[in-house]
Amino acid sequence: VSAASEALDRLIATVPGFPEPGILFRDLTPVLADPDALRAVASELAASAHGPYDAIAGVEARGFALAAAAAAVSGTGLVLIRKAGKLPRAVYRREYALEYGTAALELHRDELPRGSRVLLVDDVLATGGTLEAALGLLADAGLQVAGVSVALELAALGGRARLARDDVRAIAVV
Ligand code: PRP
Ligand code: MG
Repeated sequence: VSAASEALDRLIATVPGFPEPGILFRDLTPVLADPDALRAVASELAASAHGPYDAIAGVEARGFALAAAAAAVSGTGLVLIRKAGKLPRAVYRREYALEYGTAALELHRDELPRGSRVLLVDDVLATGGTLEAALGLLADAGLQVAGVSVALELAALGGRARLARDDVRAIAVV
């Protein structure tokens, strides 16, 4: 058991009934607030790629914190995959399904040179819709995927299968 997985198991708060009845919310904010836990999780995320990479891409909003910490640890830059309408320059856009309706993620078209290698990071893998859309954006931009890593996978929701990749890494599995 790594320091990161131990810290996640100990610090993730499980909140029943948030944001609505019947949902068991996994709150990672205590992990971010603990200096040793944050460093351990960021280090493990940063080390999870296959080979070298040029940047870490983080998914708004909760993925930003871990992706930024991992980028700082790895000495690479951070690329922002944002919710629709937040990025000011020309973007690629991918829609994904929510429980009710759809949402969209966007990536600046010229953020990195085509062919750059990117490690994709988010906090949680649940149904996989978010990371599937994010992978679509990296493909649209001609970027190579050096790995897909999350702090927490909710394995029962089967999101990993939707990503159709064998290089998805999760530090903790619930
Ligand atoms: C949460 C979480 C992941 C996503 C996982 O983000 O941070 O990004 O859900 O779910 P999925 O695998 O079913 O797509 P959410 O969009 O709820 O909000 P956030 O802006 O707070 O990150
Ligand atoms: Mg999110």
